[in-house]
Amino acid sequence: MTVTGLPTGVSRTAVLIAQAREAETARPSGLFKDPLARPLVEAAGRISGVSEAGRRAAEHFVLRTRYFDDRLGEAVRTGLRQVVLLAAGLDTRAYRLDWPAGTRLFEVDLPDLIAFKDRVLAEHDARARCERTAVAADLRDDWPASLVSAGFDPERPTAWLVEGVLMYLTPEDGAAVLKRLSELSAPGSRLSVEHVNQAYADQPKMRPAMNKLAATQAAWLSSVEDPEQWLAAHGWRAEITHQADLAVSLGRPVPAMAHPAVAGSARIWLVDATRD
Ligand SMILES: C[S@@+](CC[C@H](N)C(=O)[O-])C[C@H]1O[C@@H](n2cnc3c(N)ncnc32)[C@H](O)[C@@H]1O
Repeated sequence: MTVTGLPTGVSRTAVLIAQAREAETARPSGLFKDPLARPLVEAAGRISGVSEAGRRAAEHFVLRTRYFDDRLGEAVRTGLRQVVLLAAGLDTRAYRLDWPAGTRLFEVDLPDLIAFKDRVLAEHDARARCERTAVAADLRDDWPASLVSAGFDPERPTAWLVEGVLMYLTPEDGAAVLKRLSELSAPGSRLSVEHVNQAYADQPKMRPAMNKLAATQAAWLSSVEDPEQWLAAHGWRAEITHQADLAVSLGRPVPAMAHPAVAGSARIWLVDATRD
């Protein structure tokens, strides 16, 4: 039976990430607390039978969550008050991070995902800790028009987050997302972004996960080999953090997939970029 109103296809991938945040929240020494992850996962339907590769990926989801929490925290500390989460999924940063007064945060995702998330958050009487606006839009279309009509101000510097989505877009659609967000970025804007290189997607141990994603209309369609150059072409100065260094800095074991001896040239790029 198909239950209507639940995230499906590529939007279902957001549930897996929320499950990782839910599990981390239960750890006494967790890297963050996301109390809304559990109600969102339960309402969406838990993904069971997660493979060994999926469990290892969860270590990365936790590390990247904390990495991007910290980047957004830095952005608001430098005075930015406009934040955009592209493909926000079941991210609840609007509800769980400590935002300065006057912060406006926009979450962009596909219409079904946004409708589901808003319904569940309302049922749990969740209160955002900033001025949150959800924008239903497809990143392959004219999402800037939807964002601007929802109140986004391109004259103000913005902290952008593009986490866990570019691999699901074609190279052309990913390039268009970068071009469009760059055009909307006033001087002083910051960009936090995650992507993978092709060697990462091609690892034999990733094959079962790749096949499963493709079978659920969530195939990975793109990668990037040189994020510094890619972002520089749009006026961004990128700083890349290696997953292994991140794990060590957070007192966590280096995820197996991030260990140079295991992964070879496979990379998940965690990037923080600034714009003059
Ligand atoms: C793996 S989840 C990541 C969600 C969130 N950024 C996180 O890390 O928890 C991928 C998200 O991308 C969204 N997405 C995929 N393709 C999209 C598109 N063309 N337009 C808008 N959102 C899209 C999905 O709906 C889903 O919420």
